[in-house]
Amino acid sequence: MKCVDDFRLLLGKKEIVPIIVGGMGVDISTAELALEAARLGGIGHISDAMIADVCDKRFKTTFIKDKTKFYKLNIPNSDKSIVKFDLGLLAEATKLHVAATMEAKRGDGLVFINCMEKLTMNAPRETLQARLSAALDAGIDGITLSAGLHLGSFSLIEDHPRFRDAKLGIIVSSVRALQLFLRKNARLDRKPDFVVVEGPLAGGHLGFGPDWAKHDLATIIAEIVHYLKNENLNFPVVAAGGIFTGSDAVSFLENGASAVQVATRFTVANECGLPDKVQQAYFKASEQDIEVNNISPTGYPMRMLKSSPAIGSGIRPGCESYGYLLDGNGHCSYITSYNREIALHPNSKSISVKDKTCLCTHMSNMNCWTCGHYTYRLKDTTHRLADGTYQTLSAEHIFKDYQFSTDQKIALPDLVE
Ligand SMILES: Cc1cc2nc3c(=O)[nH]c(=O)nc-3n(C[C@H](O)[C@H](O)[C@H](O)COP(=O)(O)O)c2cc1C
Repeated sequence: MKCVDDFRLLLGKKEIVPIIVGGMGVDISTAELALEAARLGGIGHISDAMIADVCDKRFKTTFIKDKTKFYKLNIPNSDKSIVKFDLGLLAEATKLHVAATMEAKRGDGLVFINCMEKLTMNAPRETLQARLSAALDAGIDGITLSAGLHLGSFSLIEDHPRFRDAKLGIIVSSVRALQLFLRKNARLDRKPDFVVVEGPLAGGHLGFGPDWAKHDLATIIAEIVHYLKNENLNFPVVAAGGIFTGSDAVSFLENGASAVQVATRFTVANECGLPDKVQQAYFKASEQDIEVNNISPTGYPMRMLKSSPAIGSGIRPGCESYGYLLDGNGHCSYITSYNREIALHPNSKSISVKDKTCLCTHMSNMNCWTCGHYTYRLKDTTHRLADGTYQTLSAEHIFKDYQFSTDQKIALPDLVE
């Protein structure tokens, strides 16, 4: 019976254990987690979502405090169009996070950064270009483009000296999205080095509409593998979303995928950035405790625990400090919803906003508990301790369980009392 270790992902001349730990925004996939995946011969991701905030916590910088101070007078103003990112500071934060991570890298694997196009940051092209270029400058092994079609992203970095040597890939959820990406970039004569195909059971934002439940990963992978074969394209396809065991992974590797991208199992790793309290909430969740909702201002559906404090919260928009979701005109749909509730309840001390959430502030405070569909199975991957809590696991244990397990088995960690 085969296990994941019987396969290798070939990226250029490099042979990689075909396990990629997916990017989990705002430092849920920490540098420590990504570095473990790389040390073990796979690929780990850091994320560039709200990278200034991540730097402040990791390096005690003051990017957020300084930005808040700079735009302080605008806080009561519902027009956020003046709240911009300083591109120099954005590049500085990116370089800090990436360079420190790359310096600490050991082993044969790789560390990539996940870049979400939907972080439009009140100047979509300029800020994305600054983020991508700075990550390449700081020596990242590769970039995974996510949360968007990224039709213009390659051209933003086509003049970068590392454009053809860094590993560049994109996450898609349909063959159509991949076709569009390839067509738009045909003139660059630079194919992606890999494509991650993410199905509807993933965590974070979903690349589907309200009919997400009608789609299934194996079918989309089959369509994409067929399309690439017909077009004589041979970059690796990576399957993602709902791959919970080594055996699940093997079935994708036997059916055209060259690697798997996984995340949910690692949300309860010691190296993951989620606080203990949230990890315990993930362990305790039942299937009924998880929903896919539309409260993200990005417009994409997002899966999260129904008990996330972000749901229904009516906090003041935090754009002067963050502002990552302001579109090219300085709008965010949370601001509209927030203003509507304020107008409806002018005398209330606190309001509730149900249809949207202030994702920046809640992600920063780890109050938006986004998770994969199979979060309710995490309790089966470890021990329940005498006090009723669940034992978190080392990233190494989870990685090796994916790598070597067979027969749908999940190896429990050694019990730590
Ligand atoms: C907590 C969490 C946060 C995530 N955040 C992001 C993100 O910021 N950007 C992204 O492209 N994907 C994100 N994802 C998706 C993962 O990178 C990955 O592709 C997917 O969840 C794999 O499926 P699995 O969780 O069932 O293993 C997130 C997933 C989880 C569980």
